[in-house]
Amino acid sequence: MKVTVVGAGAVGASCAEYIAIKNFASEVVILDIKEGFAEGKAMDLMQTASLLKFDTQITGSTSDYSKTAGSDIAVITSGIPRKPGMTREELIGINAGIVKDVSSNIIKHSPNAIIIVVSNPMDTMTYLVHKTTGLPKNKIIGMGGALDSARFKYRLAEALEAPISDIDGMVIGGHSDKGMVPLTRLATRNSVKASEFLSEERLEQVAADTRVGGATLTGLLGTSAWYAPGAAVSSMVQAIACDQKKMFPCSALLDGEYDLSDLCIGVPVILGKDGLEKIITIELDDAEKAKMQESAAGVKKTNGLLAL
Ligand code: LAC
Repeated sequence: MKVTVVGAGAVGASCAEYIAIKNFASEVVILDIKEGFAEGKAMDLMQTASLLKFDTQITGSTSDYSKTAGSDIAVITSGIPRKPGMTREELIGINAGIVKDVSSNIIKHSPNAIIIVVSNPMDTMTYLVHKTTGLPKNKIIGMGGALDSARFKYRLAEALEAPISDIDGMVIGGHSDKGMVPLTRLATRNSVKASEFLSEERLEQVAADTRVGGATLTGLLGTSAWYAPGAAVSSMVQAIACDQKKMFPCSALLDGEYDLSDLCIGVPVILGKDGLEKIITIELDDAEKAKMQESAAGVKKTNGLLAL
């Protein structure tokens, strides 16, 4: 199992690190445009191997895509991260060109790769990769919901004063401050609805804190977050690499599901060896349906900025 991670920045490096620590891939190639940077990150990570007890071979490459040849999975993290006060949508001008270029280089050398898109604005970048590569829709998946759901669970655990392992919850919709739809109605603590413990106002606060999860960290760190994004991508890579058939909310190209089409947006899907193997349609209530439509309108507006 060979995995390529394009972009040796904080998210790409964390993703490579978690993949290696979980020890399920034989090879990880990190690629970056900055001379020597990916090689340096790869060497530093390899020097943790004897300490952390993994056998994954990590190598780095400066823009040489031939090193990525034959990858089973490729993760695109390239592009600029947001600075405090910026929205993810504001990154489109620079990141669209980068992501387009990266995705065509990936499939040139790894025509069978399953591509996971992380670069922001992620739903629009995922749509762009679909439009520019024309790969089957199971092979291109956007990472957003796995991260947003992890942040939702963190906020739910905080509100419930419970350990996170007791909590279940999911965020669908666009990966943006306004577009996320945390499904508070379905959130549980060990099968008991969170609404049994928390007032409607407290649950609304949990949802609001979740939606600005990335922005809050950008404010604190001065750039966007990397540990949780890296962990979320590595879990998706593992689900595909190990054919786990796990359910994650991911950005998927829709064709009528949830009454939406011709866009990529977060919905629950099954991840296994064929990538995005199935879109799960769940029954939403009227308020959730309205939020999903509003979120989709936001994603489509950003998609409209692409020069397709
Ligand atoms: C975040 C970035 C990865 O939400 O979109 O932290």
